[in-house]
Amino acid sequence: MADFLTDVQTLRDKARDDIMKGPVTASYGTDVDKVIELLNTALATELVCVLRYRQHHFAAKGLDAEPVAEEFLVHSGEEQEHADKLCARITQLGGTPEMDPAKVAGRAHSEYVTAEDLTEMIRENLVAERIAIESYTEMINWVGTADPTTRRVLEEILAKEEEHADDLLSFLE
Ligand SMILES: [Fe+2]
Ligand SMILES: [Fe+2]
Repeated sequence: MADFLTDVQTLRDKARDDIMKGPVTASYGTDVDKVIELLNTALATELVCVLRYRQHHFAAKGLDAEPVAEEFLVHSGEEQEHADKLCARITQLGGTPEMDPAKVAGRAHSEYVTAEDLTEMIRENLVAERIAIESYTEMINWVGTADPTTRRVLEEILAKEEEHADDLLSFLE
C-alpha cells in the first residue's frame, strides 16, 4: 500500500471512534463549525433572494412586464433549491439550518429591495446576484480542498448565480 495512506487497521479503528459524527471523520480538513456558520450565511442570502424575486414577480407591472415577471418566478424557485441544498449540507455536517426570519435579514449578504419600476427591479436583482457571486467565490476559496463536498455544493450554486446575472443583464441590454 502507498505509504502516504493510513494503514487499514487505523482507518477501521478511526471510523468506529466518534461514530455519532456521521460523515464528519478525523480526516475532515477544516473547522466544521465555521463551515456550518458559512453555510448558514449563504442560506440567509438565498432566503432573502427567494422573497425578493417572489415579490418582484407579483409586483411587476407594465407592457413589458410578463416575460421578466416569469423569469423572476423561475429565479425565485432556483434560489429556494439553493436554500434546500445548503440546508441538506448543514444537516449532514451536524448543524442546524437557521431560518428565524428575525435573524435571516441581518445575516444575509443580499438585501431585500423592492421597486416600482421594472428596470429598477431588474437592476436590484442583478446587484443581488453580483453580491452572491462575490460571496460564493470567496467561500469556495476559503473552503479550498478541505471539504470537497461542501465545495461542490457551493460551486454548483455559484454557476447558477452566474446564469441568473447573465439572464438579468440580457433584459437590461
Ligand atoms: Fe441562489
Ligand atoms: Fe441567483
